[in-house]
Amino acid sequence: MTKEKILIIGACGQIGVELTLALRKIHGGSKVLAADLREENELLKGTGPYVSLDVMNKEMLHVLVLRQNITQIYLLAAILSATGEKNPSLAWSLNMQSLLNVLDISREEKITKVYWPSSIAVFGPSSPKENCPQQTVIEPSTVYGISKFAGEFWCNYYHQRYGIDVRSLRYPGLISYKSDPGGGTTDYAVEIFQDAIAENKYVSYLKEDTYLPMMYMPDAIRATIELMEAPPSQITVRTSYNISGMSFSPREIAVEISRYRPGFQIEYVPDSRQAIADSWPSSIDDSRARADWNWKPEFDLSRMTKHMLDNMTLSHS
Ligand code: NAD
Ligand code: SER
Repeated sequence: MTKEKILIIGACGQIGVELTLALRKIHGGSKVLAADLREENELLKGTGPYVSLDVMNKEMLHVLVLRQNITQIYLLAAILSATGEKNPSLAWSLNMQSLLNVLDISREEKITKVYWPSSIAVFGPSSPKENCPQQTVIEPSTVYGISKFAGEFWCNYYHQRYGIDVRSLRYPGLISYKSDPGGGTTDYAVEIFQDAIAENKYVSYLKEDTYLPMMYMPDAIRATIELMEAPPSQITVRTSYNISGMSFSPREIAVEISRYRPGFQIEYVPDSRQAIADSWPSSIDDSRARADWNWKPEFDLSRMTKHMLDNMTLSHS
């Protein structure tokens, strides 16, 4: 039986639901405490404990960590890129203060491991577009990207100064069917499936040739768990690791979907999210993650599309 007691903050979000379920499978339901501002997600009900928590309330978080004998924290609460541009100060405040609260409490209470995700949004227009390297020019142009870049260096600082074993991945856009995405620029790659099934058409807010780095959720969950389970000696990046799954444009994913949904129509009506997408790389070099802890994605565009449609069609029938 595992000795760890894991707290997942933001457990009802797009990643949180699937990560909570995966960690409960490994450690046992009672060992993984799900926490969120929102009501408990339907898929989590009956699989383990749930608490209502505002991560901005440091005292409440501290009491929870002590009372529940928490040993590991996964912090997933954040405001994503598109929503962040609508309220920059709120995005900065949540994304930064939540991390500082978790890092401070982890230092005081000797939490053994912390996980906090960064994003491809750390990169900006001056970063290389193709195969963007781990270390390069990083000048983010969104408040979300700025908060992720600053957060990476707070993680590195707490590791260097206080020895906290904090680990991080720069996720690409994540594609999933179990829980909805929460206000990012890459959300179109989930909406396109939902609209394909409901109406066999989609209006894309990104131009047809906008290539972005993407990853299917099963790969993202596996990457997170593999990173967290790797021996500390294998972790050479304490800011955040580049990881890559696939790269495609709205036109390419539409062509792939139309293989299974004949007559599928797509229209392109770009909005303010186009500028955010244009500021990001179109593909990512993840050779450091591959070398350090053997990262390797399993899903490409074709396999992911079939898997998404099979599972979404099943849940609609
Ligand atoms: P999401 O928006 O789907 O989920 C975030 C969850 O945090 C929500 O359930 C929300 O209710 C909760 N939350 C918000 N404020 C809170 C607070 N004050 N206290 C407690 N809970 C609060 O986000 P996600 O897509 O699951 O992303 C999780 C993490 O991964 C974020 O840090 C995000 O930046 C990062 N990330 C996500 C993607 C992606 O494509 N989904 C890509 C790169 C990085
Ligand atoms: N999927 C996220 C977003 O678009 C990337 O971090 O905001």
